[in-house]
This record gives sequence, structure tokens and C-alpha cells, in this order.
Amino acid sequence: MTDTVSPDTSSSDTGDDGAHPRATFTSFEESTADDWAIIAPQLEITQGFVADRVIGLLRELKFDHGGFPVDRLEHSLQTATRAERDGRDDEYVFCALIHDIGDTLSPYAHPDIAAGIVKPFVSEGNHFMVKHHGEFQGYYFWHYLGMDKDARDVHRDSPYFDQTEEFCAKYDQTAFDPDYQSNPLEHYEPLIRQILRAR
Ligand SMILES: [Fe+2]
Ligand SMILES: [Fe+2]
Repeated sequence: MTDTVSPDTSSSDTGDDGAHPRATFTSFEESTADDWAIIAPQLEITQGFVADRVIGLLRELKFDHGGFPVDRLEHSLQTATRAERDGRDDEYVFCALIHDIGDTLSPYAHPDIAAGIVKPFVSEGNHFMVKHHGEFQGYYFWHYLGMDKDARDVHRDSPYFDQTEEFCAKYDQTAFDPDYQSNPLEHYEPLIRQILRAR
């Protein structure tokens, strides 16, 4: 086991430009406190890239429509814009904007992708709303697919049931109008950077 580090010789998307040391262990079992003293500060650096990655993923949603009347980026922008114009606060609007960011990464469990991204930065209620919005959206169409439209009822005892029901009723299930004038993604970039910044 060694507690020395070797200089990086390659660039990576963690922002390592060759000037930063790296741990050299081959398994966690042989790692030392010195190794973790090198690695731990990198968490903030990685978080510093998250906003750009989220913006990039949102841009990618432009190229997928899944058969819906509007593409996935427009649906996201329209959900956020409707929430913003209804007077919702920044954190809520941010959640509305990225609630479907996982649509093309995990079509079967997309709410969990967005929920994981927002969790460290938003209230418990907003996290619940993002994580469970799929079941609440199901109220409007799951019966057409042979599924239980009332699946959301398992959350009736949650203090966040009403919030999530309202999110879907007012902003999510309504955000498929091709004629709606949504704010552009650029309008939301400062908000994304503000909320997802490194701590
Ligand atoms: Fe969704
Ligand atoms: Fe949605």
C-alpha cells in the first residue's frame, strides 16, 4: 500500500487538468486517509459540472418526442413556464423544469432520475413531488393502458399528496400544447446554475 500519489497524465470530465494529484490504490480496502483527503474535495468539483450536464441533457430532450404532441424539451419548458407564471417559487420551478429529465435515460423509472438530481437541493415536499409525479400523472391516462389510474392512492397518507396532485393537475398534464409560448431554456439556465452549484 502506498500513500503517495502520481500526477494525472490525462484529462477527464471531473475537471482534472493534470495539476491535481490522484490516489493510487487498487481497492478501497487498501486506501488510506491520505487517499481520501485527495478524493473528498473532488466532490465539489464534480458538482460544479452538474449544472452544465443538466442543461445539456435538457437540450437533448429536444430530439425526442415519444409520440407526444410536443417534444420532451418543450414539455419540460412548458411545465416550468406554467408553474412560474402561476407564481411558484424558484425551487418549485426548477423541479418542474427537470422532472422529466430522465425520460430518455430510464423510460421505465424516469422520475427517479430527476428525484436523485434534485434531492440534495430541494425541500422534502418538492423531492416527493418529483419522485412520485409519474404515479400521479397516471391518473390521467393509465386506464387507457390497462393500468390502475388510481395508483397514486398509495400515497394518500403522505403530507405531500395534495402538492403532487396539484403539480400534475395544473402544470404537468397540461404541458402538451404546441401553441403555448414557453420560456426558452436560456431563461432557466441561471436558475439551474444557482440551485445546482457546489456547496
Ligand atoms: Fe414524467
Ligand atoms: Fe411531465
